[in-house]
Amino acid sequence: MKRVLSCIQPTGDLHYGNYFGAVQNWVKLQSSYETIYGVVDYHAMTMPYNPKKLRENTWELIYNLIALGIKPDNLFIQSLVPEHSELSWIFNNFASMGRVENMTQFKDKSQQSKSGKDGFISVGLFDYPVLQAADILIYKADFVPVGEDQRQHLELTREIAQRFNNQVGKEYFVLPETLFTETPKIRSTADPSRKMSKSAGEKHNISVFADEAVIRKRIKSAVTDAGDTKEGEMSSGVQNLFEMLKASGEMDTYNSLMSDYDSGQLKYSTLKEGVADALSNLSNTFNAKKAEITADKKEVKYQIKNSSAAIRKIAQETIKEVKDLCGLINVKF
Ligand code: TRP
Repeated sequence: MKRVLSCIQPTGDLHYGNYFGAVQNWVKLQSSYETIYGVVDYHAMTMPYNPKKLRENTWELIYNLIALGIKPDNLFIQSLVPEHSELSWIFNNFASMGRVENMTQFKDKSQQSKSGKDGFISVGLFDYPVLQAADILIYKADFVPVGEDQRQHLELTREIAQRFNNQVGKEYFVLPETLFTETPKIRSTADPSRKMSKSAGEKHNISVFADEAVIRKRIKSAVTDAGDTKEGEMSSGVQNLFEMLKASGEMDTYNSLMSDYDSGQLKYSTLKEGVADALSNLSNTFNAKKAEITADKKEVKYQIKNSSAAIRKIAQETIKEVKDLCGLINVKF
């Protein structure tokens, strides 16, 4: 079975953009691949952060991912597998300075930091994609499901693997491929010209754990005509509502409302009701599952420590081979 790996940063809540755009796909992939999913807390230290919040967010994300359908056995916490940072140091020597300097995520985030309190930009932020390469290659992943925004980081990962292979004179690392599955890009219901995101503010995202009342209110007030529509085209706001309906799996409702649209009969209020029903159903299920899981947090923590330890075995094997190939001393203490 081919191996799939992906990771997510522990920053707060998950919204429907995260769910329909990534996590829902991760859940599905579990049945056709060997899947490994990481909560990358080391990455979360690259921007100004609060230690207490980091730990809370890490566990919270674990509960959330399990509530959404990720199996605990497939989950690990990055800092419980210290070999990631060890491989990342080794990879620093195979990563091109010029290429890393060119990463757009670094440029964007360092720009954000510059406008912050003291304008501090860490070396960690710069080195972020090298740690990401280590996350992927340490498990010799075949496929990495990520969004378009991560294309450059995957490219860099392959370059590092290739340079490493050249150095050691062996095709040791498989070059991982990006798995661009067709996942919908969900937009903000308050402003369909931008994507659903947490950083843009509360009204620009809908939590997957939102109360039904909140969901209904947000969908009811969703912008359907932002004045950006060309004659005869569906507006981005209406498209977005249809996307969410489809992503929720409500195909009967989707098809019937779409044919209403085609014949010019669609009432936006009916579409909104359909979307609100679909999201409320999902969120009610997620909330029930989360309540069940968090009733015994100790048990979940225990499970995740065990799954991290099991996944770590793969990482330890890789590090051992890598150290041998690189001319480092290997001793079993
Ligand atoms: N950089 C990714 C993001 O911002 C998160 C990430 C870290 C990641 N390590 C990874 C994704 C390894 C895939 C594989 O979304």
